[in-house]
Amino acid sequence: MPTILITAGPTQEAIDPVRYLTNRSSGKMGYAVAQAAAKKGNHVILISGPTNIDIPDSVDFIPVETAEEMYTAVEYWIQKAELALFSAAVADYRMKEQHSQKIKKTEEELTLTLVKNKDILGSVRSEFNFKGTLVGFAAETENLIENARKKLLKKECDFVVANDVSQSGVGFDSDQNEVFLVFPDTEEPLGEHSKEHLGEMIVNRALDLHEQR
Ligand code: CTP
Repeated sequence: MPTILITAGPTQEAIDPVRYLTNRSSGKMGYAVAQAAAKKGNHVILISGPTNIDIPDSVDFIPVETAEEMYTAVEYWIQKAELALFSAAVADYRMKEQHSQKIKKTEEELTLTLVKNKDILGSVRSEFNFKGTLVGFAAETENLIENARKKLLKKECDFVVANDVSQSGVGFDSDQNEVFLVFPDTEEPLGEHSKEHLGEMIVNRALDLHEQR
């Protein structure tokens, strides 16, 4: 059975000691994938940003806060994995300069200068030389399949799990989600299910593909 690496949750980028920038993500989808993979008896490495969810049983849990920490953890742990799923909602930017003291509200306007974080999934093939099966995630508000396929090609994934975050009642904090699996030439709608069930479906599809490769 393959060792499976999963990233999940948001990352947090400090603005000052009491504030941070983050993405809207509960981590539920990634944790459901990790739980499903571990239940099947696979060795699972779960690298996660801060969430309120219980750590699934029988996973190696690597907690991180920032995108830089997640990048470093993935760079190390990906060497031990044969299959990897990247569900984390990584903050795209971090503060250019760290404020060691709380920023006081003395001005009417405040400008923060941000710099881009490295693309972790985008580094897996090109920088970390990963040859295994690679699954990305894409949260889109328009042109779902087309945008997801662009990410698939750019980041050299085997497939991308795409969900339309403009729909209400599914995604983000919900326990339900509706996703499409986007392959280079085809797409498969998985329909709307609990995140738990979708986690199983996604893992099963990834394991099938891994066996065929
Ligand atoms: N991802 C990552 N590292 C980043 C950014 C994203 O690993 N710094 C991964 C996510 O875990 C997910 C996929 O890349 O699997 C999402 O792709 P991305 O292009 O970052 O999505 P968006 O941030 O939505 O991009 P855009 O703003 O261009 O829509």
